[in-house]
Amino acid sequence: ITNEKDMDRVYQGIVQLLDNNIPYFNWTGFYMVENGELVLGHYIGKPTDHLKIQFGEGICGQAAANKETFIVDDVSKESNYLACSFETASEIVVPIMKGDEVLGEIDIDSDEIAAFDELDQELLEKIAAMLAERL
Ligand code: SME
Repeated sequence: ITNEKDMDRVYQGIVQLLDNNIPYFNWTGFYMVENGELVLGHYIGKPTDHLKIQFGEGICGQAAANKETFIVDDVSKESNYLACSFETASEIVVPIMKGDEVLGEIDIDSDEIAAFDELDQELLEKIAAMLAERL
């Protein structure tokens, strides 16, 4: 367990590292579970209207409800999708799990269709696991 100020630095460092180094990550952020809903945390990218998301709602809420990574190659084909920006074409959401409990998630949007593959998933799941150990 790490104190909140240190955790803030960790979240900020991760979004910066990812955003600076992976060109097709166009919105990179965290939603954390607070009182049973997903609450927007640190992010880099355009401001979003979706400050809170319910489990089951949108790509983020579905990943949280299913407790597994959700990759969407073409968001325009998803009916249960919450648009953040016009430019977004694909999305990956990786839950941060402690045991069976979802503590939050990493959410990445790309302006490219089908931007995310299993290597992105592997990287983000490793980061999620590392974070979970501190929470
Ligand atoms: N597209 C997400 C909402 C969050 S924004 O991408 C930052 C969704 O459908 O859940």
